[in-house]
Amino acid sequence: MSVFRYFRAIILFTHYRFIKLNNPLKTIPVGLRWTSHGAMKTGADNYGNVMRRNKKIVDVSQNEILKTVDSSLSPSRVKNKAYTIGDYGAADGSTTIGLIRNIIDIVREKCGKDQEIHVIYEDIPTNDLNCLVQRHNGDRDIILSYLLPIATSYRHVLWSHPLKGDRDIIPSYLLPIATSYRHVLWSHPLKGLIPEPRSYCLDYDNVYVTASGTDFYKQCVPSNTFDLLMSFTAVHFLSRPIILTDSIYRLLSKNEEEKEVIKKLAAEDWLQFWKLRGKELKQELYFYPGGCAIVSSVGETETRMSIQNNFKLLNDILEKCVSDNIITKTEKENTTYAACFRRQDEIKEPFVNSNVLTDLGLHLHQVKQELVPCFYTAEWKQRLDTGVDDRDKFAHDFTSNVRTFTYSSIYRALDSNRSEQEKSIICDKFYKKYENALRNSYPPDLDSLNILQVAYVKKK
Ligand SMILES: C[S@@+](CC[C@H](N)C(=O)[O-])C[C@H]1O[C@@H](n2cnc3c(N)ncnc32)[C@H](O)[C@@H]1O
Repeated sequence: MSVFRYFRAIILFTHYRFIKLNNPLKTIPVGLRWTSHGAMKTGADNYGNVMRRNKKIVDVSQNEILKTVDSSLSPSRVKNKAYTIGDYGAADGSTTIGLIRNIIDIVREKCGKDQEIHVIYEDIPTNDLNCLVQRHNGDRDIILSYLLPIATSYRHVLWSHPLKGDRDIIPSYLLPIATSYRHVLWSHPLKGLIPEPRSYCLDYDNVYVTASGTDFYKQCVPSNTFDLLMSFTAVHFLSRPIILTDSIYRLLSKNEEEKEVIKKLAAEDWLQFWKLRGKELKQELYFYPGGCAIVSSVGETETRMSIQNNFKLLNDILEKCVSDNIITKTEKENTTYAACFRRQDEIKEPFVNSNVLTDLGLHLHQVKQELVPCFYTAEWKQRLDTGVDDRDKFAHDFTSNVRTFTYSSIYRALDSNRSEQEKSIICDKFYKKYENALRNSYPPDLDSLNILQVAYVKKK
């Protein structure tokens, strides 16, 4: 290569780097990556409104989680350090609000009522973090501003009380009044900007919430941050889109070669997820306990997968869309749910078959399988018991749920020559067909059991 060519190559390379670094939109392949998971919509259709029933999936592990937190807390905990909780793949944080409130209670019971708490929510960059922020912040300042004159009189009483030297007596008779303040504060109509479920932030002092729109396949916080890290129904999402030509999901596919590629990617992602969390969890130090992590993800057993019949129905509707000329055969083949519902052996694998995680101090304490019956069938049955066979509501609610986590798999598979508007219309037609099929089915026949594999990990 001549000297001239050599220098030209260097200049071109430097120029390319410059363009890449100065144009972040080019470096994030949004179309390929984030749209494979997008679960959120702003406004009335926000995640918490549509997916509020997912709280049952969180709550099924609540007792075990609270037990784990309780046993991990040591009275020797350094008091001037915040107890830091993570919720990864949090969407708008609505499903874990109640659980985190209970965790705060346990931590404060053991570590003192003034123990600072830091909650860090994490999700992908396109997640609606604004919705999350609105859920956790109300207008408490306004309440305090008109409580201020009364508080000022308290000060006056406190300072001028005749029992000098015996200040403890004063707070004791101020207590009932202070309690009424609490009452005013609790029951005041000024709730969070998105009021339900009520955020613990409105009721507790010294609790700090921050949100990170990163990607849990990257390190999201500095090393040694978390006392407790949790994640619910999120880590089954893979780090990139995948292709299964004969089915939307692996368990329903007969293509062994493509399934093997997915299995390999799922194993790599699972290991990568834990390597990063291994850094982020707090390190055990003398009598100070290490952090723990609880990751509940959608799972498979040896014979079946979570909400299996819904995925069968998705496949059927895709076929129907091809025969009705709504989508092409190639588009159907490209529609693959970029996720892997792991089995117990796949969850355990990197903890038992290599030293990578144990060298980071991570130990798998247990993997618990939890089963949660279909929320929509249960609600339909309740309505039926009152004499109303409301399959329209059943079909509508169930479709809104399935649409939330599958929409992007369909949208992304549509031909790039189609306009955005055309793609939206096709997706709407798809879910209309899905809803119609549900409306015409007998809900218990769907047998939509949620299967969860919950990993409890401790860092030494
Ligand atoms: C089904 S929602 C679960 C939300 C909430 N944890 C719950 O239990 O209701 C899955 C969430 O995982 C998020 N997610 C998927 N892949 C992710 C990634 N690589 N990093 C961070 N979050 C991710 C999605 O954006 C979505 O908000």
